[in-house]
Amino acid sequence: MRLLITGGAGFIGSTFIRYALSHITAERLVNVDSLTYAGNLDNLAGVTADPRYRFAHADICDGAAIEAIFAEERPDAVVHFAAESHVDRSILSPAPSLDTNVRGTFVLLEAARRHNVSRFIHISTDEVYGSLESPLEADELFPLNPSSVYSASKAASDLLALSYFKTYGLPVIVTRASNNYGPYQFPEKLIPLMISNALECVPLPIYGDGAQVRDWLFVEDHCRAIHAVLDCGRVGEVYNIGGNRALPNLEVVHRILTVTCRPESLMTHVLDRPGHDRRYAISSAKLTRETGWHAQVEFDDGLTMTVAWYQEHHAWIERVRSGAYRDYYALNYGDRRDQLFRARAVAAKPGGTRGMARAERSR
Ligand code: NAD
Ligand code: TYD
Repeated sequence: MRLLITGGAGFIGSTFIRYALSHITAERLVNVDSLTYAGNLDNLAGVTADPRYRFAHADICDGAAIEAIFAEERPDAVVHFAAESHVDRSILSPAPSLDTNVRGTFVLLEAARRHNVSRFIHISTDEVYGSLESPLEADELFPLNPSSVYSASKAASDLLALSYFKTYGLPVIVTRASNNYGPYQFPEKLIPLMISNALECVPLPIYGDGAQVRDWLFVEDHCRAIHAVLDCGRVGEVYNIGGNRALPNLEVVHRILTVTCRPESLMTHVLDRPGHDRRYAISSAKLTRETGWHAQVEFDDGLTMTVAWYQEHHAWIERVRSGAYRDYYALNYGDRRDQLFRARAVAAKPGGTRGMARAERSR
């Protein structure tokens, strides 16, 4: 099999490349990545000497570059991870999510169609189903109801990918995973941000009341699921991939503080994220029924391994947290705590909840 991976310098893509080179019989694996702030070739230091592996530095929105790579590599299968993957960044600056997640996916689908690939796995997210009241769980037929620019752009790209199956017979499969965690995750997402802040003994910023619920999936469990779909998923289908470990954010942060032996006083409530989804929940019953896959890593074990990895990779954290990361941190978190106090003061005045909503919107 000749594999083409997009976004392989990011968190899940790089884990999948390491996994694929040892678990999938691939004669060739080309990694197409434009190396945005989230792309980091250090994540792949262990595989660059493998003769089956090649890195192609290209933007998936660049049709000519993508066509040249497909013509040269003639991939049998594409696993498409590349994306602008962070909700907070999509709030601060929506355009890159639209460009990469929608237009970039379109460019890849067109190239895959021209070159008759035999599998196109489009990696997506449970966030496309939006926020669900307990005890609802989304199966693959659940209506899409995205809330953020990120999740709306992923929903758009899911539908575009499925339209290529229906219209052109392109053998597309869409996977929708829950929140991933594990080594090599960029410290903008909840778990790596809280671990790296805890290790530095700086405040852990909790959006709103911290009662929002996410389902946590260890990244290697996710990679095994993608492998199962690559081997025996049915084309034209969607597969949910859940960790079966739903936890409120406060509980996740509490466990991080326990594993890192840091005080609870580091937890700091800050102004909530606009449009913040309260609860994600999916059923992976279809994937389990059809492939036998199920999540194997217990959350406490996965978290302990993840904390240990960040403790042992201090230099990696230092490099990714320098420069542009500091600018992002200042922009997103800056005076968010003070804004929360101001918003609460407004809410305490007569007619104040409308004032609070206004304060939150004006962020
Ligand atoms: P990430 O942000 O860590 O990595 C994204 C990678 O894509 C980076 O290497 C980046 O350089 C590359 N990239 C971005 N724009 C590009 C472009 N225009 N051209 C080429 N490369 C580009 O993301 P991740 O967390 O590894 O997520 C990978 C995929 O999994 C995404 O599609 C995301 O929507 C999906 N997903 C992520 C999670 C999660 O919890 N992280 C959960 C479910 C689904
Ligand atoms: P995140 O890792 O950004 O994933 P997503 O929003 O795509 O699910 O956030 C996970 C949860 O953690 C979400 O409810 C937002 C919350 N959160 C915080 O409370 N503080 C933070 O600094 C971050 C990054 C997230």
